[in-house]
Amino acid sequence: MKLMEERIEAQLPVWRERVSRLRNNGDFKVCDVTVSQIYSGIRGVQIQVSDISYVDPNKGILIRGHTISELLDLLPKAKDSQMPLAGGLFFLLMCNEMPTNEEAELVEEEWRKRCLIPTYVFNSIRRMPADTHPMTLLSMGIMALQRESVFSKRYAEGMNKQDYWRSNLEDAINLTAKLPGLAAFIYNLKYQDGIYVPPSTNLDWSANFGHMIDRFKDQDYYDVCRLFFFLHSDHEGANVSAHTTHLVSSALSDVYLSCAAGMNGLAGPLHGLANQECLKWLIDVRDHFGGLPEQSALETFLREQIGRGELIPGYGHAVLRTTDPRFTAQLEFANENIKNDVLIQLVELVYKTLPLILRESGKISNPWPNVDAINGALQYHYGVTQYDFYTVLFGISRIMGLVSHIVWARALLKPIERPKSLTTDMLEAMIAGKN
Ligand SMILES: CC(C)(COP(=O)(O)OP(=O)(O)OC[C@H]1O[C@@H](n2cnc3c(N)ncnc32)[C@H](O)[C@@H]1OP(=O)(O)O)[C@@H](O)C(=O)NCCC(=O)NCCS
Repeated sequence: MKLMEERIEAQLPVWRERVSRLRNNGDFKVCDVTVSQIYSGIRGVQIQVSDISYVDPNKGILIRGHTISELLDLLPKAKDSQMPLAGGLFFLLMCNEMPTNEEAELVEEEWRKRCLIPTYVFNSIRRMPADTHPMTLLSMGIMALQRESVFSKRYAEGMNKQDYWRSNLEDAINLTAKLPGLAAFIYNLKYQDGIYVPPSTNLDWSANFGHMIDRFKDQDYYDVCRLFFFLHSDHEGANVSAHTTHLVSSALSDVYLSCAAGMNGLAGPLHGLANQECLKWLIDVRDHFGGLPEQSALETFLREQIGRGELIPGYGHAVLRTTDPRFTAQLEFANENIKNDVLIQLVELVYKTLPLILRESGKISNPWPNVDAINGALQYHYGVTQYDFYTVLFGISRIMGLVSHIVWARALLKPIERPKSLTTDMLEAMIAGKN
């Protein structure tokens, strides 16, 4: 897409110059790695530079420097809606510039032109057993689309490495264009007897997903999609799916191969599956009390659960030290639109009750809710009740961020990643002061 290519190209000399100046300080030490970090998931080791987004412990995710509430104000809105157009968000992620309405619409238009999915992709998914997990189907669908990669074709023909990012950008736009249709196909195949609803030529990217899963009478659900896809698009460069994608793409694997790998990481229970755990927990609590409990009864219940050493899903965070602004944005939406929903009322009551209890224990670094504490409750209200699909929703949003990281990594000529491992003997010898 010429518009995005030109905007990135215009910024490249400055970024390349900054990187090259930094590389001249190659011996400057950013951080040390301790033994405990090696044995605890390299937690806190700064191994990545990402200018696309950054998780600030107190402000939450900053996308291109903007907080969630700033973005909700500044990003161009979908027609007849207060929610942002995914096309505008994608432009910001990729081009590092706040788009005008017209630019956001141009991305949406480009996505509509490129959204059709080849039949062989659908056929390969149809052949899988009916109980295959939807995340497996998503990953397979992306892998099947790899045949369409512009980068891989041009690479095979021979191309200057300065230009790798251009065909990765083409792939990025092609893949993201197809994601709502791919996800809707998986949803319909698994839960709606394989119905097919073609994409609408009038709807934006996010609403089109709602339309294709046959929610076409529910304008509010379109807004839920717009909000959800906006909130989950990126979470800096070193979480499991982001880092996996980056690592795989550093081998010059194309956008499809790299994002499928990232989706396989997202499918893990410690990463993208947490939102389904959280909804299950809320439903169990509601059923336990036969509806919304009194606050004092909930407090006793929560104390007992924590006393048994059980985790309350949706609370705590590895980096954040405040209420996740993505939780707040969804709670505000729910209070405006579905205030009487019992699960939403329960989400709010837990929010009023639990942080104080968690803080009392003195163990937890962050007693506040993360985005998963409410995600599922919103989807559930609008009829998307199949928990195991929620990570697919997360995935199609997150790929907008993942592909932006890939394009910039190639634009800044980042090399293949190859850290180093050591043996237990070596580590023991190092600690003992031997060579
Ligand atoms: C997100 C999470 C993995 C962060 O882990 P962490 O960085 O190790 O958290 P902390 O260092 O703050 O935790 C310290 C203690 O608080 C406890 N704790 C953390 N989150 C808790 C929760 N949600 N409920 C009850 N206790 C909790 C831990 O079990 C730990 O206790 P321990 O020392 O007895 O083992 C963790 O808070 C958690 O598992 N939350 C629930 C699952 C969830 O919402 N995941 C989605 C994350 S986006």
